[in-house]
Amino acid sequence: MLHTLAVSNYRSLRELAVPLGNLTVVTGANGVGKSSLYRCLRLLSDTANGQLVASLAREGGMPSTLWAGPEKISAGMRQSGRAQGTVRKHPVRLRLGFTSDDFGYAIELGLPPPGASAFSLDPEIKRESIWAGEKLTRHSLLTDRKRNIVQISSDEGAWSDLTTNLPMFESVLTRVADPERAPEVLTLRDRIRSWRFYDHMRADREAPARRPQVGTWTPVLAHDGSDLAACIATIETTDARDPFHAAIADAFPGTEVEVLGETLMQAVVHQPGMLRPLKSAELSEGTLRYLMWAAALSSPYPPELMVLNEPEASLHRDLLPALGRLILRASRQSQIWVVTHSTELAAVLSDAQRAEHHVLTKEMGETKIVGQDLLSTPAWTWPAR
Ligand SMILES: Nc1ncnc2c1ncn2[C@@H]1O[C@H](COP(=O)(O)OP(=O)(O)O)[C@@H](O)[C@H]1O
Ligand SMILES: [Mg+2]
Repeated sequence: MLHTLAVSNYRSLRELAVPLGNLTVVTGANGVGKSSLYRCLRLLSDTANGQLVASLAREGGMPSTLWAGPEKISAGMRQSGRAQGTVRKHPVRLRLGFTSDDFGYAIELGLPPPGASAFSLDPEIKRESIWAGEKLTRHSLLTDRKRNIVQISSDEGAWSDLTTNLPMFESVLTRVADPERAPEVLTLRDRIRSWRFYDHMRADREAPARRPQVGTWTPVLAHDGSDLAACIATIETTDARDPFHAAIADAFPGTEVEVLGETLMQAVVHQPGMLRPLKSAELSEGTLRYLMWAAALSSPYPPELMVLNEPEASLHRDLLPALGRLILRASRQSQIWVVTHSTELAAVLSDAQRAEHHVLTKEMGETKIVGQDLLSTPAWTWPAR
């Protein structure tokens, strides 16, 4: 389980440490930084999948993703409400990190020195650290990367080089595969790769979920819902079957979902009052989208972490309580992070145990968590430069 997500200098997230619960609900007005926080988890996942640089490039590259405000916001600036440029003590670095039950991880990105790279807007990985347990100390560090040198510590506390020529654009997580000397790298990589993201599942007229699909064992719904029928057919053969049907009945009493076909599969819905079942191509956007959430959240292989961005999108208000209960149930098997605009959904989710509810706000252009003070801010130290 993840305990803390930390970020520094990513867009409006100048310096933030966010506690995570079994269920973490993030709300706040437009533009406060909810999606940016979601993107941080995404960027960590991209790192473990070797996609970090490409992913940042799609956002406009390093210069546009780095915090655009001053290095420090002084009391004077807060009083006058005006930011002032000062001479930076340190080059600006984008940093992401997290702690979990057994490992912590941090990555620090910066721009290459002028003239040093043919890709002057691409980030370089300046530092990457993995430590044991929750707290980063000199003794808990297991693997430490500085520029292109990766070192590992021994039980006696001595450091030795694992490699001295790691490319500056590549993460330890994708380049180091030494199960004997650095097993934590592989463990962490596989764990981060298992995180599951659902963001704007498509339910429009042309949505892939509306077309018949190849029938194959599918325990995890694709992020675009394109294998919905195969996924429901898979759920039918597992213990996830009853909870899945209960979730459908919760939202649409009297309705039954069925999958037809063998090589090509198609989900159909029997609705009360209809003389024939409706094919997925005929369903309303809201109904189809709810089916996708029910399939995604009833996965027979629940992941360690599931991240949902605005799951309420294009769902009718009447469906939000059922969606909330679906998320609550899933949060007993997986850790869940939900970004939502919907106060109704947030209200249903407030019933959860071991949940963290964060309302974001902005001060001087900087994202803050409402009510977070010294006591409620998780302890976090970045690896020293
Ligand atoms: N480089 C940057 N530095 C500081 N703030 C930024 C930067 N890039 C974008 N922002 C701010 O981040 C906000 C967008 O955050 P976003 O996560 O999309 O908000 P939300 O999802 O809560 O609506 C905008 O208000 C924008 O001003
Ligand atoms: Mg947003």
